[in-house]
Amino acid sequence: MCGITAAVGADDAVSRLLTGLENLEYRGYDSAGVAVANGNGVEVIKREGQVDELVDLLSSASVGGHVGLGHTRWSTHGPPTNANAHPHTDCSGELAVVHNGIIENHAELRDRLRGAGHTFTSDTDTEVVPHLVEEYLADGAGVEAAFRRAVADLSGSYAIALVHEDEDAVYATRQGSPLVFGVDEGTDPQSASPGATYYLASDVPAFLEFTDDVVYLEDGDVVRVAPDGYDITDPEGTAVERPVESVEWSPDDVEKGTFDHYMRKEIDEQPTAIAQAVRGRAEDGRVAFESLSDGAFADVERVQFVACGTSYHAALYGAQLLRDRGIPARVFLASEYATTAPPADDGTILVGVTQSGETADTLAALRRGRSEGLRTMAVTNVVGSTAARECDETVFIRAGPEIGVAATKTFSSQVVTLTLLAERIRRDVVGSHSETAPELLDALSELPSAVGSTLADSSAESVAERYGDSDAYFFIGRGTAHPVALEGALKLKEISYEHAEGFPAGELKHGPLALVTPNTPVFAVATGAHTEKLLGSIEEVSARGAPVIAVAPRSEQAVAEAADDVLWVPDSHPELVGLLANVQLQLLSYHTATLLDRPVDKPRNLAKSVTVE
Ligand code: F6R
Repeated sequence: MCGITAAVGADDAVSRLLTGLENLEYRGYDSAGVAVANGNGVEVIKREGQVDELVDLLSSASVGGHVGLGHTRWSTHGPPTNANAHPHTDCSGELAVVHNGIIENHAELRDRLRGAGHTFTSDTDTEVVPHLVEEYLADGAGVEAAFRRAVADLSGSYAIALVHEDEDAVYATRQGSPLVFGVDEGTDPQSASPGATYYLASDVPAFLEFTDDVVYLEDGDVVRVAPDGYDITDPEGTAVERPVESVEWSPDDVEKGTFDHYMRKEIDEQPTAIAQAVRGRAEDGRVAFESLSDGAFADVERVQFVACGTSYHAALYGAQLLRDRGIPARVFLASEYATTAPPADDGTILVGVTQSGETADTLAALRRGRSEGLRTMAVTNVVGSTAARECDETVFIRAGPEIGVAATKTFSSQVVTLTLLAERIRRDVVGSHSETAPELLDALSELPSAVGSTLADSSAESVAERYGDSDAYFFIGRGTAHPVALEGALKLKEISYEHAEGFPAGELKHGPLALVTPNTPVFAVATGAHTEKLLGSIEEVSARGAPVIAVAPRSEQAVAEAADDVLWVPDSHPELVGLLANVQLQLLSYHTATLLDRPVDKPRNLAKSVTVE
């Protein structure tokens, strides 16, 4: 999704903006641009393509200044072209605007502005904003007032930043789209440029190497940032207090280090991520979350989960564990829930599972639940995210930043967190942890090393080579292995572009079996539960000549013997084996994609954080 950056007060704003854009590349984009206000007007350089290409363009343009905006565009209105790239300007070129989100009433505003004589040069919804500001400036308003009046005309979701040639400042606001504000007060007198530098961005990694002091802006906030300071006001102009918070993520967390891809690095980080998710939450045989008091779930009668993509699969996993503990739990695709919500009542808790905390579909589903009086909870990775701020309660998965578009470590951290949450809810509702809790909590403490040995001993690369020339790839599993099968298929299709589908093993014979041939390998995920039935499914596909690759713990000898190949995982608690199997499937996808020379971290058409519905 689109990424916004702004730098104010830096000696060389352009280099800060480009660093920010590079750090936001993971969000997915198809064009990029910058605008700098430098006392000689506003200069805009932008183009369709990659940030590298923008850098080349800038190297021959000698653009400089202390105040600027940057943008990576992920097309929604109009194809990726130079004209549609941001920043967008008004007719006079005195001001420039970048935007993330969707302006729903853009057609009506465009008609109105065209009628007033404005000329549009792009197909974007965004371009109405600079022309609206221009209109209000012509009406006699100052830059700030014109910006506020323009924003008041918009409906939809947006994070917007603006520069004007008459002011050494950036104006910005947000409504339903992420925008964070980085503060580097520059108090080090030894520094070559001891003045303050400020940043605006769609996500903290954009400026993390410059500052870890962040203000999480709220919807409706209008911020004016100049080299000598900033103020934050509400839409009416009344000052609002927003604390400056220090983020715990370090710049190294958002570097690739020695790895070829972020995805590979993040797969490898899973032992640490899982240890962080568990730390302090499972002591002396009791599950406790820092943010939840004892008895917090005593009134819960059922759990509804909403999520998208990989997070949806993690939620399916968590719901299965809740049901196994006697707690009714169902999972809904957030986009469906937002429009066709199921019945719910006072005993329902609505849990949004979202790594980013910014996924528009998930936020819409949570808002729908809230509007109907439901209690809401966010399970997220990002402190200060919209989901964390809007929900009644939040549990953080503590995975650290995830840059690769394909979610990997956050799936594992979500599953671990939801496993703990299932036990925690069960204790409040039933009065005790489940019978399996002691073994489960022991296995959770061993899980980082089990993931470590899965990574160290994996034969996923040779399996990827062996089956690299297949027509399609199928994944099957039962119980907690079902979401793992779905996730294995999603990961493979999104980064390798190969056709892949996941099925509940029992459903094969009700249709998908028609697709199975000797050139469609079937990955059978075994957890130690439902083994006999899984063996039946393996026989069904073997009889049609399909090669079977078991993903199984050593104890599942019968499954391994029935298969042509095995991706082994260590024995663990049956409720956690699926997570280990998923690590093997992540590696399988990664190797399949690299063998095909795919851009693993930035798969085509996809964005890390999907901030439009
Ligand atoms: C797949 C992937 C997506 C996300 C989905 C939800 O690898 O990353 O399917 O899981 O867009 O994102 P979050 O969890 O940020 O709500």
